[in-house]
Amino acid sequence: MKTRILSTRHLEDLAALLEADQVVALPTETVYGLAARAASRSAVERIFAVKGRPADNPLIVHAATPEDALSLGRHVPGYAARLADAFWPGPLSLVLESAVAWPWVQAGHDTLAVRVPEPDWLRELIRRVGPLAAPSANRSGRPSPTTAAHCLTDLSGRIPVVVDGGACPAGLESTVLDCTGAAPVVLRPGPVTAEMIAGVLAESAPGKRGEDGAEGGMPSGTGDAPRISGGPAASPGTRHPHYRPRARVILVAPGTRVQCSDCMIIAPAGGVGPGPATTEMGGAAAGVHLERRWHTLQELARNLYGWFREADRAGVSVIYVNEVARHGLGAALMNRLQKAAAHGDAEG
Ligand code: TXA
Ligand code: MG
Repeated sequence: MKTRILSTRHLEDLAALLEADQVVALPTETVYGLAARAASRSAVERIFAVKGRPADNPLIVHAATPEDALSLGRHVPGYAARLADAFWPGPLSLVLESAVAWPWVQAGHDTLAVRVPEPDWLRELIRRVGPLAAPSANRSGRPSPTTAAHCLTDLSGRIPVVVDGGACPAGLESTVLDCTGAAPVVLRPGPVTAEMIAGVLAESAPGKRGEDGAEGGMPSGTGDAPRISGGPAASPGTRHPHYRPRARVILVAPGTRVQCSDCMIIAPAGGVGPGPATTEMGGAAAGVHLERRWHTLQELARNLYGWFREADRAGVSVIYVNEVARHGLGAALMNRLQKAAAHGDAEG
């Protein structure tokens, strides 16, 4: 199959492909997704086959409006509705008790992850064809794609179309939040940070503004930060190897001097952040050495996966990455960096 490139204006063609149960790689505000109609078993099975995705890892369903997204859940807690109100459309996925029976999407769970993506054209497409299941459009275990070129590297010849919408603004996958309990639990940190979530819940906590707070509302005191899950069973996807370039990723403390031979360094530009800001290259470096410098965590997030892929193209054997402080977007970045740095088989 020859993979064609379309633009975000080709809504008719895209709708026709999806209605014919094809899969399409397309840009969202987070990363490129591999989308198919969620209601179609055969279309969604194609996603798993194309990606080489383990069958026990459920998919996120993308809806056109917050009402549509929440209608896919049952017993939606008040706090989830408030977060939807604050962050949708946007990079937050809510895990709800499922109101639909789409076992091909849910991978054996009775919950469903839903979100409303930001791009207008994408929500218009969803309005036409119905909710879309979409994991990141990489081959399983590879870094998520943040450009159309990354999608082609992984999936050319395996899918009919990649929609080229340029580079994704966030560059990291959505925050995944378990909303099936009395209080939310972060299963995967992302661009909507724990601090942002806590801020909205504190602001809208029942009683705070004399709001209802009755059924499904947050118990008092839940304006605190949402719990961050560390448990392996929390998000099915966390059991599988993830975000891993071919080169070995080594995390280093800021200011560390590394002997860079045949490597890439990813570090803040001089003067950024507390303490010694940069990772320095020492000695007479032999072989290829690449340096990628960033000024803000947003810039790091936007470029990280692309830099991983560049390192692989250049054939370097090691990528040294400066650790970042684990708050705000730093929590999501460190989560991905630690997965990238884990070696051996992360399964089981
Ligand atoms: O930003 C994103 O979320 C991108 C774009 C395309 O929307 N999608 C994405 O999907 O990153 P994927 O499949 O690569 O990652 C989804 C994560 C996985 O870790 C999966 O296990 C988890 O969400 N997940 C999906 N459904 C779940 C559920 N019902 N319960 C718990 N975790 C779930
Ligand atoms: Mg993924």
